[in-house]
Amino acid sequence: MNKIHIVSNRLPLSIAQADDGFSFTPSVGGLATGMRSIYKEFGGQWIGWSGIPSDDLSEDQLNEIDERLVDENCKAVHLSSEEINLYYEGFSNNVIWPLFHYFAQYIEYNVDYWEAYKKVNQRFADQVLEVADEGDTIWVHDYQLLLVPQMIREKKPGVTIGFFLHIPFPSLEVFRILPWRKELITGMLGADLIGFHTYDYERHFFSSVRRLLGYEVSFNQIHMEDRIILGDAFPMGIDYDKFKSKAEEVFRKSLPEKSELHKELEKYFLMSPDRKLILSIDRLDYTKGIPNRIRAFEYFLEKYPEYRNKVTLIMLVVPSRAEVEQYKLLKSEIDELVGRINGRFGLINYTPIWYFYRSLPFDNLIELYSSSDVALVTPVRDGMNLVAKEYIASRVNQTGVMVISEMAGVAKELGEAIIINPNNEPEIADAIHQALMMPLDEQRQRMRILQQRISRYDVFKWAAEFVAALKKVQAIQRNFLAK
Ligand code: G6P
Repeated sequence: MNKIHIVSNRLPLSIAQADDGFSFTPSVGGLATGMRSIYKEFGGQWIGWSGIPSDDLSEDQLNEIDERLVDENCKAVHLSSEEINLYYEGFSNNVIWPLFHYFAQYIEYNVDYWEAYKKVNQRFADQVLEVADEGDTIWVHDYQLLLVPQMIREKKPGVTIGFFLHIPFPSLEVFRILPWRKELITGMLGADLIGFHTYDYERHFFSSVRRLLGYEVSFNQIHMEDRIILGDAFPMGIDYDKFKSKAEEVFRKSLPEKSELHKELEKYFLMSPDRKLILSIDRLDYTKGIPNRIRAFEYFLEKYPEYRNKVTLIMLVVPSRAEVEQYKLLKSEIDELVGRINGRFGLINYTPIWYFYRSLPFDNLIELYSSSDVALVTPVRDGMNLVAKEYIASRVNQTGVMVISEMAGVAKELGEAIIINPNNEPEIADAIHQALMMPLDEQRQRMRILQQRISRYDVFKWAAEFVAALKKVQAIQRNFLAK
């Protein structure tokens, strides 16, 4: 059996400097969970950035990291502070991220970013080339590594390459804005199979390939001179059972076993039986629609004053890419908006918005999901949004209402949720009202269907289907070459 290697910007574990060396903590994110099953089963390596600037470390420390990673079947790409600044913060997060999320006004057209992106992508490709044999399969992930498939293909044409984009692929009219648009899609076309979360992203990609490079596209196949490339939609799932079983455990806990957060949440409800909680959880990112959500909540409290003192919005915002200017500006905007609304509607024992700017342990996340009557997910643009799926999986009593933005890839799978336009604040306010008024029977009816759908296509199924499609594409390629 040939091996499957995984390549992504981050490794599936986070490495931190401790007093006596380094600590290695496995990541719990969706990608790490889904891929761990794949690369361990197929005996491959995971190639990714170590997460620590290499110029902060001595030669011995770098070797120590590399040696420890051997046991984990991982190989680190070490990046200097300058490379992190130009490739990661620069081209990945100041060019591709805003462009692909339709924030073209945030793009920094900087040739140094582009040069560093090429150079670092080549470093990732070189690491892959060291471990992969002809006949192996390589699965490359996300927008930080768009050039890697072609870089591998040039040196090792006999490998099978899959690429999955975890963020949206924008429409041609937006994508063509970029000076390096042709280079980026040519890089992706080094793969045999290219996966997207939704059919719309796939369609946008095909239009760009057809119009910018002139290749023929029929159904979901791209015809090049010497190869056929398959594109398809694979909506990523979560580890459903992990969320469900943890939520069941939280339900069973007796009072002394409960966490402080859980006790506080229960106290909040005890103060008055008609109190309600609305939950939102995101990384701090301008794509997540956090300011419009806060303003919509303010509008809700204005329009439906009977809910003042009864409804609280818990907003968990996880720090992210704090070195990038737009993220710093957004942080100040959120701080100001939360302050304004709490100042305007707050009472001695009522705070309209509980705002946490930090990450929380898994148990606390589940307590938040389990205790909240409504999940409010309002991104202005989002490739998928797994938080929505996590909320659904954690609702063991099958109540709770999901309000979701139509701009999130996940909305395509959540027909039974209340779907809103994130720029329409009055509509969001009415959706909150509708969610809070929804009879329990109707909540259960909707939630049951959502749970069935989300549990069926979990992260393991997602990964397995992608790998199965890679096998199919190998056969298509063989037939094509035999002709
Ligand atoms: C998104 C991207 C991932 C990225 C994650 C966290 O989900 O699709 O590739 O890893 O955000 O961002 P960070 O920049 O911290 O890796």
